[in-house]
Amino acid sequence: MRILLLASAFNSLTQRVFVELRDRGHPVAVELALGDDERLTAAVRRHGPDLVIAPMLTTAVPEAVWSAYCCLIVHPGPPGDRGPSSLDRAVQEGRGRWGVTVLQAVAEMDAGPVWASAGFGVPPDVGKSDLYRGELADAALRAVLLAVERFASGTYTPLTPPEHTWQPYLRQEERRIDWHHDPTDTVLRKLRAADSQPGVLDAFLGGEWYLHGGRPEHRLTGPPGELLATRHGAICRATTDGAVWIPELRPRRRPGESATFKLPATTALGTSLPTAAEKGRGELREQPPTSRTRNPAGGSHEDITYEEHGTVGHLRFRFPGGAMSTGQCRRLLDAYRHARTRPTDVVVLGGRRDFFSNGIHLNVIEAAPDPAAESLANIEAIDDLVEEILTTTDRLVIAALPGNAAAGGAMLALAADEVWCREGAVLNPHYRLMGLYGSEYWTYTLPRRVGPAAAERLTRDALPVGAHAARTLGLVDRVLGCGPGDFTAEVTRMADRLARSAGLSTRLGAKKAARERDEAVRPLRAHRAAELERMRAVFDDPSAPYHALRSAFVRKRRPDGTPEHLRTDFPNGG
Ligand code: COA
Repeated sequence: MRILLLASAFNSLTQRVFVELRDRGHPVAVELALGDDERLTAAVRRHGPDLVIAPMLTTAVPEAVWSAYCCLIVHPGPPGDRGPSSLDRAVQEGRGRWGVTVLQAVAEMDAGPVWASAGFGVPPDVGKSDLYRGELADAALRAVLLAVERFASGTYTPLTPPEHTWQPYLRQEERRIDWHHDPTDTVLRKLRAADSQPGVLDAFLGGEWYLHGGRPEHRLTGPPGELLATRHGAICRATTDGAVWIPELRPRRRPGESATFKLPATTALGTSLPTAAEKGRGELREQPPTSRTRNPAGGSHEDITYEEHGTVGHLRFRFPGGAMSTGQCRRLLDAYRHARTRPTDVVVLGGRRDFFSNGIHLNVIEAAPDPAAESLANIEAIDDLVEEILTTTDRLVIAALPGNAAAGGAMLALAADEVWCREGAVLNPHYRLMGLYGSEYWTYTLPRRVGPAAAERLTRDALPVGAHAARTLGLVDRVLGCGPGDFTAEVTRMADRLARSAGLSTRLGAKKAARERDEAVRPLRAHRAAELERMRAVFDDPSAPYHALRSAFVRKRRPDGTPEHLRTDFPNGG
């Protein structure tokens, strides 16, 4: 069946639907809905699809489209739920279960007949965007695939949805944190409901900021709302009964100013931080690191942890948006070096949930006084980490991907001996969309895994790859068919089995020999130097597309049309 995806952006869920439908043999094309109904209608007519699916659409489907084609909308709420802030409301209200519905577009928003739906449990401590890319995306795929099957059967009659009232957009007034009344649980729910977009608007330290993300702090306390400490770029603020960590801030845009973007909280605050201390609002203390060999039970903000199970070391890292700044790469390298000193046979890299990594931190680079220099510093720092992994020959290294990985973050995974990923993960092993040649030793690791022809195709086409297709290609070794909540336990079990396997020492011997052979063919430093030369040329050229692409990416500027790499007329022979 020829399926056209309509979406406001080629975002994570749209990519997941794209790869899964394609993997099932459907010819799939993509058209972005960017506000011009006439253009969109003409594009849909040109494609002439059998079915239109909208995995993430923030605008209404034009009548000329839904009256001529069956258009299935993925709504992030259970049947009957209506409105633009469904998931935000579910998280803010602390719902234990939620759902996703595939309904047909009609004149009234979210009111069409239901083709399929699926429910999911909402973990209590997960932010909206993590939930969206995890449990919700899994449920959405189940519902979309069922809807496609039902539509293809030609015999299914979609159901009339239950009556419900329209829930309006969740405005900042309802999101606002009342620091003098809200306990930690309430503050966290508000932060988590807004974690990616739009953030929670708040006024403090003489400025107006959107707060992004939130995690509990269990030891520090202070006068409600006060800034108590900073750690790894995050700030800790007191609530009525405890405190929370807020990793990122975005300044409120003033009239006439260009769009603002999120940054690590301490970077965003800049010189406002010492001012606060001077005013006696509480001494800002950089929290001392907790032991790397155990998980901090007390909840102090940690984005990197290390723990051991038998002879397996688990080095976990979790950075907002999967972006890794120079400082984060250096801290992760330190932690990896520490892991290498431990008496283990296997090291597992990766977080418990959500993104594995999306490469260098474009927002931090954009905000740097010299973005070209910061780009290079970030690349060198991530390269150092990759090199350390590639030259680890005394133990096996596993990259365990609970979720998506892109660009340098995908290549970081390929430095490991084995790549395991959750079934729902989507990989984007390419750099072209950011105008970059790429580094992270990809010229060594990508062809090593998939062969030169597939490496060329992946980097040229710049399309997402689903977990199963990645396994077929050789990008991934094992696909874990489990939900986000079971991933860590499953990885721990598999790593334990690997560490106990009989052939481990033979395998390590072969690994060392292979590395020596590869080094003799072309040393790692030659790969790095050649990649960096291409990257430096881009960084140092102010007219290189990378700078404009980066600026547009961090400011979330909408493209003018469907990007060129997606502009295909039903590939796969459709
Ligand atoms: N630097 C800074 N922020 C990044 C980032 C990066 N490298 N990659 C992702 N993010 C942020 C996004 O801005 C977004 O922020 P938001 O929550 O405020 O909206 C968040 O992480 C999630 O990313 P988003 O783009 O919404 O997720 P997605 O699943 O729809 O798309 C990618 C994933 C990876 C395709 C897309 O984020 C991307 O192209 N990232 C840049 C990759 C890159 O070029 N890296 C640099 C070269 S190594």
